Amino acid sequence: AYVVTEACVKCKYTDCVDVCPVDCFHEGPNFLVIDPEECIDCTLCVPECPVEAIYPEDDLPADQQAFLGINAELAREWPVISAKKDPLPDHEEWAKVKDKRHLLEK
Ligand code: SF4
Ligand code: F3S
Repeated sequence: AYVVTEACVKCKYTDCVDVCPVDCFHEGPNFLVIDPEECIDCTLCVPECPVEAIYPEDDLPADQQAFLGINAELAREWPVISAKKDPLPDHEEWAKVKDKRHLLEK
């Protein structure tokens, strides 16, 4: 499955959602996750993300490994999002911030 990582936090551009053929994105207050049970590894979402937040699970950067479990866990709790919406306010500023996983709201 593909995994949404830290770069998405407080940006939530949602361009990824529009291309997913199986609606496996789930939405929280300031982050999206991919349901690993539903993702068919089509790769379409990867180039859509302006902050390059999406990785295949086998190619997750070492410092992003925790997001494997975070995606699986929160996909069970959060509702599906199937259409693009406006990104969060200040998304351009937050796109430059690397260390922001502690700001992920559940
Ligand atoms: Fe959806 Fe394909 Fe991305 Fe998986 S890889 S989340 S199926 S767009
Ligand atoms: Fe997040 Fe990138 Fe999608 S910022 S909402 S993973 S387009």
